[in-house]
Amino acid sequence: MHRVDNFQDLQSEATEWRRFLHQTPELDYRLHKTARFVAEKLASFGINHIETGIAETGIVALIQGEGGDGPTIGLRADMDALPILEVSQKPWSSTIPGKMHACGHDGHTAMLLGAAKYLAHTRNFKGTVALIFQPAEEDGRGGQRMVQEGIMDRFEISQVFAMHNWPGLEVGKFSICDGSICAALDEFDIVVKGKGGHAASPHKNVDPIVIAAQIILGVQTLVSRNTDPTESLVISVTKLNAGQAYNIIPEHAEIAGTVRTLAQALRDFAERQIEVCAKGIARAFGAEIEFRYRRLEPLVINHTEGTNLALKAARGLVGPAAVDDKCKPSLGSEDFAYMLEARPGAYIRIGNGPTASVHHPAYDFNDEALPYGIGYWVNLVETALAAGN
Ligand code: NI
Repeated sequence: MHRVDNFQDLQSEATEWRRFLHQTPELDYRLHKTARFVAEKLASFGINHIETGIAETGIVALIQGEGGDGPTIGLRADMDALPILEVSQKPWSSTIPGKMHACGHDGHTAMLLGAAKYLAHTRNFKGTVALIFQPAEEDGRGGQRMVQEGIMDRFEISQVFAMHNWPGLEVGKFSICDGSICAALDEFDIVVKGKGGHAASPHKNVDPIVIAAQIILGVQTLVSRNTDPTESLVISVTKLNAGQAYNIIPEHAEIAGTVRTLAQALRDFAERQIEVCAKGIARAFGAEIEFRYRRLEPLVINHTEGTNLALKAARGLVGPAAVDDKCKPSLGSEDFAYMLEARPGAYIRIGNGPTASVHHPAYDFNDEALPYGIGYWVNLVETALAAGN
């Protein structure tokens, strides 16, 4: 098991890669420059099995160990940026107005490249490492598409792991938990269909705005009055559109929002009960509704065996005191969920120090974290695929 000092000499090179990627952010699947950069680097490390163009701009590259036959472990990094105008004013700031690496996927890519360089050089493991560089994490579909395009079966990946930087967690620390670590993400739309007319004669109309207001308050009670308070459910109404004039009661009001939860049963509950609640309120006032609910991203559920492996790799790198094994799950979502639905494994957080939060225009990945991320990947591979076992 390596301590982090073994990876300090990769830091300056990985910092250069990270800052290059930071200056040239690309969005969703349109990661042509990023993917070319990654593939060129991988080839320069002596990796000869590199498959590009998976899910448009995703890459899977294989490194064979010299310790004999063994299973294949998948390590995933996301590569896409966000449509945000950067305000950090760092010398390596985004050169493309309105696009920036505000979630640190530049750092994730650089850390996996650093690990690839090390592992391709040492090959001190049995079996195979599959390096997975995915597009379109932010739109929540890139991971799913890579799975749909068959990477798990085609590359015979038996376990899969991911890492995300975590502002607020000190550099050199890791945190993880067994079970749900990121939330399921769903969206809903409710159209309240009333009866429009002159605002001066409300008794001749069915006012969808007043009904929408009741529905918005009503669905909040699903969280406060119908859900076990020790469990997590978020129902946020994030859009409300109705009316165009001071003197007209409109025909329709449109409500939209998001649901986040850490438990499958609560997801089923929310989907069912938001509709029941909205429909009941609308009927009480003489209106009808149209209801749509979309399940966008599954829960990220860490598997016990994968979590234990991740803990071992991180503790070996930074010592047990720097690894929190019972972190609070986040109500954010992460499309690594699709990979964990396909194969067992785990998702871990790596400290990014006191930076701005992810998705903030002043955010920047912390280059001090690079050797920790590289070291974690190497320890994980050399533990999961220990030569001689
Ligand atoms: Ni992210």
